[in-house]
Amino acid sequence: MASVTSLTDSVQQQLASALSATRPEAAGADPLLRRSDRADFQANGILALAKKAKSNPRELAAEVVARITTGDLIKDVEVSGPGFLNITVADRAITGNLAARYADDERLGVPLNENAGITVIDYAQPNVAKEMHVGHLRSAVIGDALRGMLDFTGEKTIGRHHIGDWGTQFGMLIQYLFEHPGELAPPEEVDGEQAMSNLNRVYKASRALFDADEEFKERARKRVVALQSGDKETLELWQQFVDESKVYFNSVFEKLDMEIRDEEIVGESAYNEGMPETARLLEEMGVAVRSEGALVVFFDDIRGKDDQPVPLIVQKADGGFGYAASDLTALRNRVDELHATTLLYVVDVRQSLHFKMVFETARRAGWLNEDVTAHNMGYGTVLGADGKPFKTREGETVRLEDLLDEAVQRAAEVVREKARDLTEDEIRERAAQVGIGAVKYADLSTSPSRDYKFDLDQMVSLNGDTSVYLQYAYARIQSILRKAGEVRPAARPELELHEAERALGLHLDAFGDTVFEAAAEYAPHKLTAYLYRLATLFTSFYDKCPVLKADTPEQVGNRLFLCDMTARTLTKGMGLLGIRTPERL
Ligand code: ARG
Repeated sequence: MASVTSLTDSVQQQLASALSATRPEAAGADPLLRRSDRADFQANGILALAKKAKSNPRELAAEVVARITTGDLIKDVEVSGPGFLNITVADRAITGNLAARYADDERLGVPLNENAGITVIDYAQPNVAKEMHVGHLRSAVIGDALRGMLDFTGEKTIGRHHIGDWGTQFGMLIQYLFEHPGELAPPEEVDGEQAMSNLNRVYKASRALFDADEEFKERARKRVVALQSGDKETLELWQQFVDESKVYFNSVFEKLDMEIRDEEIVGESAYNEGMPETARLLEEMGVAVRSEGALVVFFDDIRGKDDQPVPLIVQKADGGFGYAASDLTALRNRVDELHATTLLYVVDVRQSLHFKMVFETARRAGWLNEDVTAHNMGYGTVLGADGKPFKTREGETVRLEDLLDEAVQRAAEVVREKARDLTEDEIRERAAQVGIGAVKYADLSTSPSRDYKFDLDQMVSLNGDTSVYLQYAYARIQSILRKAGEVRPAARPELELHEAERALGLHLDAFGDTVFEAAAEYAPHKLTAYLYRLATLFTSFYDKCPVLKADTPEQVGNRLFLCDMTARTLTKGMGLLGIRTPERL
């Protein structure tokens, strides 16, 4: 499908060429185009240029205006203030551009990035044999949304779910299972809930034994050594924990309406074999040094208490490897084998120091360089409605599943209240889409680095910046289109537009630019803000401009077209974020 140049880009191009025709030395200068309340666009760049050339900005602006041909694209341009340009776009250009987008249902005319790279994105990384909690929610939701947006721009993305499936804690679990076989059911025989309850039972029992029985403790310690040396029987028992946990993870991801590919679940254990080599390479290059028997990396700017340097520990004095060695080995794999150009980690901001040290080490080793960059999208904490870290009334961490169930239940109340003609099955389906959408949207609409309050009342509210509000806008449009029956949407570029139609149309045209910006900045909240504005602009258009009762058949067709184009943009944008838009609500 043919891609469409956005009105912003077209106007920008015209301005830039008028500018360089006026002042050849200004060729390539940015006219700094912004959307504005005073006109469709405002260009601010002339001020800086005039300053540089020591000329009068208003005069320079007037010269540029004289070189702009008004017509098909620009209807009007005038100098304002100290030397801004206010630009009004022709109605015909707005409708025409949207019509071209409408013809491309798949991408709405948004071009693909021709210089796209490969991003390996590390997200949704729970830990084996442990319950997922609210902290795991953000990584999954943000990671999935970033991936949707990046894919849409043409970037190739590869997911890596770096699950915690390795370490000394498995000694205790495996030894217990060895002594009590049959405590974990075969994965095909359990659902997520049963799997987790089995794992919890085994965990509690083995922990109790470990704390009470010195001899068991010793056997568990030996089991760690057996696991690390690749003992076959030990690995088989370990695999049972991983398989049982995956049943549980997958049930939660399914509830989250998220597709997780099995081949992308590559946990810490996968890097076990490569860790000695990572250590050897770092030591040979002199990046890591021996200190009190351990192999460590020091940093000038990372110091702890008493101004003592805090090192990254690649290998412990007892020869063991930990979290840092597995991340460094994973990094090498992603660069060498997956050919990543960008490494993106969606991990709690509390691990930012770990990643700072891992990245700096990798840079010194040359694994990261000008061709490969790494970025930790560190996200903030989920707070309760009281503004404190989210806990149950008993002070325990909140189970992710309970939280999701409650959101769906709340959503069911809202759905039931609104739509009296839905069957129970329909209510259940919509409630899941509304409830899970609400959780995702609330998470995505705050800047990821900030903490946010998990407030279900606010999340499923029909007024305000919520996914339900957007889903209703979408469903309302579908109902209008159904009512229109035989009358189909049809763009009429020759028609003059109402102010509210212009505002909606200009915003619709900016969808692709917005997705590109949000993807480049890893800022899903920029896309949610765009979609929310889209829904409010639609609401005011619908208030002011009768659609089915418009004056002429041409106008009815054109307004239906604006409705449909809004719906398509809403569903596309929400879809990139992993949120569904039901046809009826
Ligand atoms: N499993 C870890 C946790 O629950 C997160 C893993 C993050 N990814 C990584 N490459 N270190 O805290």
